[in-house]
Amino acid sequence: MDRIIIRGGTRLRGTVRASGAKNAALPLLAASLLAHTGTTTLLDVPTLGDVQAMIHLLRALGADVQCDGTRVRVHAQYARLFAPPRDWVAQLRASFTLLGPLLARHGEAIMPLPGGCAIGTRPIDQHMKALRALGADIDIGQGMVRAAAPPQGLTGAVIALDVASVGATQNAMMAACLAKGTTVISNAACEPEIIDLAHFLCAMGAHIDGAGTPHICITGVAQLRAVTHTVIPDRIEAGTYMIAAAMTGGRVYVERARSAHMRALIVALEQMGVQMTSDEGGIFVRAPDPLCAMDIDTAPHPGFPTDLQAPMMALMLRAHGTSTMRERVFENRYQHVAHLCRMGGQIDVRGDTATLHGPCALVGADVAATDLRAAAALLVAALAAKGETTMTGVHHLDRGYMECAARLRTLGAHITRTKVPMRMHVPSLA
Ligand code: UD1
Repeated sequence: MDRIIIRGGTRLRGTVRASGAKNAALPLLAASLLAHTGTTTLLDVPTLGDVQAMIHLLRALGADVQCDGTRVRVHAQYARLFAPPRDWVAQLRASFTLLGPLLARHGEAIMPLPGGCAIGTRPIDQHMKALRALGADIDIGQGMVRAAAPPQGLTGAVIALDVASVGATQNAMMAACLAKGTTVISNAACEPEIIDLAHFLCAMGAHIDGAGTPHICITGVAQLRAVTHTVIPDRIEAGTYMIAAAMTGGRVYVERARSAHMRALIVALEQMGVQMTSDEGGIFVRAPDPLCAMDIDTAPHPGFPTDLQAPMMALMLRAHGTSTMRERVFENRYQHVAHLCRMGGQIDVRGDTATLHGPCALVGADVAATDLRAAAALLVAALAAKGETTMTGVHHLDRGYMECAARLRTLGAHITRTKVPMRMHVPSLA
């Protein structure tokens, strides 16, 4: 167990590089199982806890996976197993994107129900709806999903998702690539990670049109080949560094941040008074004082991303006036609020809406991260707080932010990472 100690109050300055996107890399790793022969090479795969868990799962299924820094090579020819181990599946939600590829390749898959951040009930009904439409017989019981394709294999179909689920869209796309005939996914998720997956699958030989729109059309092919692919930059990590820069009144260039993937964040920050200029290499952020209050609703892409809701709330505490945040994607995503209040934040939560009364004089405190983006929010708040903040639950941060403390240090932050003594008290506000 590690903890992070932050002495706040330093304006961040310099350049930070966005890593490859975790949420793109995870389904790409799952999709690498679709290549029967050859070696898939993925470049710019972030070295994160979730990625390590997915690599472990691929190996447990029989794939040969070699990692060299951010380059991952997957040889899946002998990946003949179709029942990933429960303990590892439970570690991350994205493990469930193995279901589509396993079903498409083996005609069979046995998956434990997935884990991940505890930010809502996170049902799997849309994944089931999509795979059943393709002809899969699915049985759910005792924490397991058992899926079987008919003897003639999966068949293309119209899949009308009730919710534009990212994971369900990815599972449907991967399964449909090897199904017979044409599949149309309507109300598909439009996130940049969906487009990245489509580019990867098309390079492998799949026929996919419309990725990035609510209607995706896939014509099945008999087989897919291994390719080399570079993962897109992480818009959530980049956005977190942009928010951190704004929080400290700093001047930071976020290298590889793609404005086309981050319109909703850029619009929100601009309305708060943050100045940004983007070029082909990234986005430069400069934040004058004071910042204006802001009202934001989270929404599926291209709306404001739920994954930036928590760090954005930390920034709203710096703004002058009353801001509101409405969380419209997940029903239990305000676990950072109690800890932000412990640091001096004035926040009321009613249902899906948080009201923030700024500007708040934030002070360092002992806080505990409860999930990945909550950890990012506490870190952002701590960077601007007076005095010292000690944050436990750092393993959550490690799931989504590569070398976070070291990168913030290069921007001038006073941040150290140490081991928690075995008997140390971990603050709980539950
Ligand atoms: C992905 C991202 C996560 C992000 C989320 C929303 C990965 C690994 N994770 O998660 O960081 O916060 O998108 O942008 O890419 N839903 C259903 N039924 C389903 C599936 C989902 O009702 O079968 C609901 C969920 O409860 C949630 C909403 O749909 O309210 C969005 O979930 P979804 O898009 O599926 O998120 P994930 O793919 O799990």
